[in-house]
Amino acid sequence: MSRVKVAVLISGRGSNLQALLDASADPDYPAEIALVISNKPGAGGLERAEKAGVQTLVIDHRKFGSKEQKYDDGRAAFDSALSEALTQAGAQYVCLAGFMRLLTPDFVRQWRGKLINIHPSLLPSFKGLNVHQRMIEAGVKLAGCTVHFVSSEMDAGPIIGQTAVPVLPDDSDETLAVRILKEEHRLYPACLARVAEGRARLRADNIVVLDNEVCAEGALSNPQC
Ligand code: GRF
Repeated sequence: MSRVKVAVLISGRGSNLQALLDASADPDYPAEIALVISNKPGAGGLERAEKAGVQTLVIDHRKFGSKEQKYDDGRAAFDSALSEALTQAGAQYVCLAGFMRLLTPDFVRQWRGKLINIHPSLLPSFKGLNVHQRMIEAGVKLAGCTVHFVSSEMDAGPIIGQTAVPVLPDDSDETLAVRILKEEHRLYPACLARVAEGRARLRADNIVVLDNEVCAEGALSNPQC
């Protein structure tokens, strides 16, 4: 079986990267992780990749000009360095896994339908940072995670898959983050497999259709009713 080549972009500890590495260790998994790129030297995820025998690369964004403006020359130059590395590695898909950089609209356009992200909320609710704390403050009773194709707006784009979890009365942002993260580690490999197999198709109207999916019926409700 030929497997699609995937690059993973990280900035930190890389637990989602680990989930993807673990999934791709199975030769029957339809994607292989060919390259891991970090914009931060010393990111924990780099070690995980090395342990798995995957090629790593650091492209330090601080070497690419000012960080003040959203899409200045620095960002464009950083993104072209990224593009070059991805092309050289033969990456067909790119997974963002805790990658803390906004990508330029040009880069996003170039990778339309091939660039995937995971976010720890049920999008389109709670985009951005400090998500767990904001969900607790808002008093939501269900939280979760989303895997989506990336559009040029932050934490937005066609949704591939979602998992919901309850928010419990005693939750802190840390306990809620742990409950969601556990599901992130299941959802990301599951969604990447659907994309790699061509079973998650991005339509022209920006809706993802999941083919041949057998989905358990029933609702997750908090409180139960
Ligand atoms: C995850 O919660 C992911 O959803 C978000 O950033 C976090 C990264 O964690 N985008 P890790 O580096 O994968 O452990």
